[in-house]
Amino acid sequence: MVRGAARGGGPSRPRGEPASAAPEAGLIRRGNPWFSHDPHPTQPKVNDMEMEQDRRWISGKIDIGKEVWYMTQGEVVSAGLSEEDILALTKEALVAHGNKKYEMPAKIGVHPHPEVFFHAMPAYVPSKLALGMKWIECFPNNPGKFGLPQTTGLLILNDLLSGCPIAVMDCAWITAMRTPAVTVLAAAALHPGAETFGMFGCGVQGIEHVKYVVHTLKNLKKIYIYDVKEENMDRLVASVKPEIAAKIVKGKGFEEVTRSCEVLSSATFIVKKPYAFVKDVWVSKGQTILPCDLNTFWDPVTSMRADKYIVDSLEEHELFDRAGYFPDGLPEIAFETGEMLAGRRKGRDSADELIVCSNIGMSVCDVVVAREVFNRALEKGIGRKLPL
Ligand SMILES: NC(=O)c1ccc[n+]([C@@H]2O[C@H](COP(=O)([O-])OP(=O)(O)OC[C@H]3O[C@@H](n4cnc5c(N)ncnc54)[C@H](O)[C@@H]3O)[C@@H](O)[C@H]2O)c1
Repeated sequence: MVRGAARGGGPSRPRGEPASAAPEAGLIRRGNPWFSHDPHPTQPKVNDMEMEQDRRWISGKIDIGKEVWYMTQGEVVSAGLSEEDILALTKEALVAHGNKKYEMPAKIGVHPHPEVFFHAMPAYVPSKLALGMKWIECFPNNPGKFGLPQTTGLLILNDLLSGCPIAVMDCAWITAMRTPAVTVLAAAALHPGAETFGMFGCGVQGIEHVKYVVHTLKNLKKIYIYDVKEENMDRLVASVKPEIAAKIVKGKGFEEVTRSCEVLSSATFIVKKPYAFVKDVWVSKGQTILPCDLNTFWDPVTSMRADKYIVDSLEEHELFDRAGYFPDGLPEIAFETGEMLAGRRKGRDSADELIVCSNIGMSVCDVVVAREVFNRALEKGIGRKLPL
């Protein structure tokens, strides 16, 4: 396997060409200029009758073109999707992504301050009649400065036939759910028998990761957690304890947790500087590392030397690379998480492989989950009509 060729190197696979199911040396790098619209050429057309039926059903509830369905965060939650539902929907979105049955340009953004970003995240997943866009921000100082979450935003869904907006909803809960779902689905594909899991960062994402991981890593005996804020570890323990049989251990530091766990994830903060809180020398062969915070938390040397560096979206990692989030270079990418979940790529070839699987977040997951939230909310009358 070719590894470590930073910025600009590496063979590429033409867009739309299916990857071989056999594990091989074909690492992929594809160019994708900033702000380009990058539709997937092989997206299938949805049958017209299906779209018309869907539109008729929605029209029974709102006057499309004149009204939208608005949902607060509480109403999004009340639509009643369970963790199992979110896992199933997220898997469908990842498999559609892996099978190239989607349209999703890499997220574009604006950056009014040096360490913050707003992302516009459109996507279309034909198999789920899911079309829309998430508009989300990440302000890492919000919790300390304003007592507000790092991440807030809205999501819009659109009618497939007329294009009109049909729904506007809070997207923080959807993001908080689909992100751990991606991590734990990938964890199960890469390390199904794991008995130990470590979570760095015990905020919104950390709590949900611990809740979700027990659904897919069924043999877990111990879950280590670590946060620079003791009170956040305590809050995590209090909020997950009633639901989780595995023993939860409050870690003493980065090294102890890293050395104690087969599978590790991190959800702390995302900035351009790699802080390398976890030193590469603490990381061993055979471990599976699933960062949600791009290149900030782990030692870049670890990602560079990993036997496989898998990513949810090649285009998005390249885009972040261009924006300066990988100052030491973007590691060579083996394949995409969705390709593994679709069965087109084998995740782990041997027990001693060190695997890093970086999932930075894809709008295909957001719109698929949001579409189901909308369906259920509309059915149950949760939310309200607003005039356009
Ligand atoms: N990949 C994705 O799809 C995705 C989606 C949503 C959020 N995120 C990212 O996940 C991260 C966490 O989001 P959140 O909503 O949980 O934020 P949060 O503010 O609720 O939680 C972050 C936690 O990390 C802790 N922390 C900060 N620095 C740390 C360090 N060095 N070591 C250990 N813990 C540390 C904080 O004390 C806090 O408890 C953010 O970077 C966010 O951008 C990624």
